[in-house]
Amino acid sequence: MPGYIGSATSRVDGRAKVTGEAKYAGEFNVAGLVHGYVVESTIPKGRIARIDTSEALAVAGVIDVLTHRHRPPVADKDDAYKDEVAPEKGSPYRPLYDDSIHFSGQPLALVLAEDWETARVAASMVRVEYQKEPHITDLHVQRDKAFAIDAPAKSRGDAEKSFAAAAVRHVAEYFIPTEHHNPMELFASTAMWDDGKLTVYDKTQGVQNVQKYLCGVFDMQPEDVRVMSPYMGGGFGAGLRPQYQVVLAVLGARALKRPVRVMLTRAQMYALGHRPASIERLALGASSGGKLEAMTHEAIAVTSQLEEFARNDTGWGNLLYKSATAKFEHQLVKLDVPTSCDMRAPGAATGVYALECAMDELAIALKIDPVQLRLQCYSDRDQGEDIPYTSKQLRECYRQGAAAFGWDKRKVEPRSMRDGSEFVGWGMATGVWEALQMPATVRIVLTANGHAEVATAASDIGTGTYTIMAQVAADMLGLPIDNISVKLGDSTLPQCPLEGGSWIASSVCNAIANTARAVRGDLLKLAKGMKDSPLADASVDDVALIDGKIVSTRDTNRAVSIVSVMQSDNAERITREEANKVTEDKSHARNVHSAVFAEVKVDEDLGVIRVTRVVNAVAAGRILNLKTAHSQMMGGVVWGIGMALHEETLFDHRFGRVMNANIAEYHVPVNADVHDINIIFVEEPDEIVNPLGIKGLGEIGIVGVAAAIANAVHHATGKRVRDLPITLDKVVQFN
Ligand code: MOS
Repeated sequence: MPGYIGSATSRVDGRAKVTGEAKYAGEFNVAGLVHGYVVESTIPKGRIARIDTSEALAVAGVIDVLTHRHRPPVADKDDAYKDEVAPEKGSPYRPLYDDSIHFSGQPLALVLAEDWETARVAASMVRVEYQKEPHITDLHVQRDKAFAIDAPAKSRGDAEKSFAAAAVRHVAEYFIPTEHHNPMELFASTAMWDDGKLTVYDKTQGVQNVQKYLCGVFDMQPEDVRVMSPYMGGGFGAGLRPQYQVVLAVLGARALKRPVRVMLTRAQMYALGHRPASIERLALGASSGGKLEAMTHEAIAVTSQLEEFARNDTGWGNLLYKSATAKFEHQLVKLDVPTSCDMRAPGAATGVYALECAMDELAIALKIDPVQLRLQCYSDRDQGEDIPYTSKQLRECYRQGAAAFGWDKRKVEPRSMRDGSEFVGWGMATGVWEALQMPATVRIVLTANGHAEVATAASDIGTGTYTIMAQVAADMLGLPIDNISVKLGDSTLPQCPLEGGSWIASSVCNAIANTARAVRGDLLKLAKGMKDSPLADASVDDVALIDGKIVSTRDTNRAVSIVSVMQSDNAERITREEANKVTEDKSHARNVHSAVFAEVKVDEDLGVIRVTRVVNAVAAGRILNLKTAHSQMMGGVVWGIGMALHEETLFDHRFGRVMNANIAEYHVPVNADVHDINIIFVEEPDEIVNPLGIKGLGEIGIVGVAAAIANAVHHATGKRVRDLPITLDKVVQFN
């Protein structure tokens, strides 16, 4: 299929984004808008003994101050607060519900004023008296209280016995700190209450998820609640679950019968979800020749007192490396913090970091090249389920990545490569993620002038969903891409899942294919009705839509223009709505893979680490758009640099509060931290995974990057740092 699919098409929403025409949730201005400002708890655990709003209420311009005692009614059952991605176990947090305090930064009051500055200053005048209770926010202090949950992967054989008997062993603990998403766009909601009907602009990765949630919390009917999120300035998982500001905005709008906006500050966003801190223990046992005999991966991760959030940290080794025995265990520790949540490649970013550092350490113990060890242990099957893959071009990722990087020139010994006053280190790691598809419905409206509108409720969180959908629709409808408009981010549009899990591209594009086929069928019916129709005998499968025409694939001379077909019947529009077909087939594993190679330079005296080169070779099925795909992978690598060297949410455990709740002291990579990044897409045709062979790219870019960098730092300095981030104080004493 020639055309737009696979090409480096520029973003169709690029102009709207850079000119500011694309509005975010906090930018919808309506007449009479009221501004809300959140008053947060300064303690992590206890009760509100007294809350005095009188001083705040006396400020000119303040309209009201909502608290748990003074607010419109909300639901009092857990079920009402359970959104699509709520953990199965536990009670979701209820904003402004009662006097109990579950985490520092919890909203205790909402000041509503005519402008934001007034609301903010008045918020500082709300007096709260607390009844404090003892709290714990330190995973290390509480690890003895960890409890096991169902492991996401099946154990095999007696891994402990095999480990004890193995010729070469490596065992170590790795640590990943709490990390926060920090999307550029602040979390915000603008809520409009109109005579029993609610319209909300919300920063969310799932408008229908928020719509359903608001119906539950406020006991409303679906037809009375509309949620929109047409554009987002980044999500990364923080926007998967409805966040508390949307409840507060709706409370305000219902209380005042006026439109209300609640926008959080950067600091307040540190009381939303986060990537949970985790301790990952790896025990690998191998024969002296480098065959794995035992693999144990145990994770201890943080959740809140309220809910049990957990992801698959430990199961990835089952997919990557052949091992005679394996043991997986996942434990949780409950702390007095907000419930942790998904952050790009949840589970894998952390678990694969530990696994891939451990493989590097095992390779060193075995005196085998790290790439060679991975090839020796390469698994062509998912060993947990004992099934093959729909496709797995990981060997090719290793080969092409190593070649592009120049891996064969690596000197084996740590501290053996130099560039002036800097040590040079080369490290590598594997990445792996899932290739999922979720049910999604797409509507296409083809109008007589040869334009088509393609619509579904998905949010484009910045990944390029508008663009790939326009590309796929243009090819399938045989129209120029300028004739396609894409509508997203509105709960009244056809059903679509959350934009997450790397599943949107495969889900919506396969749905487009099915809907386009239905449109083609309708066009063919009309074409057959034309006088002397050249397509009189054709069936839907032997025509295609190409260059604005409906064409017989058997004889391309037999063709009619789409516009003339529509005109022949005075058809103004053809409207079709179809879903993708999500397979129930469990006979194959569905995954994407990558091989990451990193070069670091470490200053001998100062310990300053620079990531000077990264090659990331990715096999992820059909690549729909080389440009947006490349950007996705670059972003993943940049975040991997941050994970390896910078990112860490720091608590003052005495107060249970985040100390660096800002992007000055919570470090993320800046331009000066980012050097040469080379993305390679390895060809991976896949006719099984889904009809279009799309696997998705949202998360794979980050997986393995931190491990490749950590391994490179070890190679440069001889110093093995297992707890992230690898800051210079941890490497500077490498003599
Ligand atoms: Mo992603 S962590 O599924 O937004």
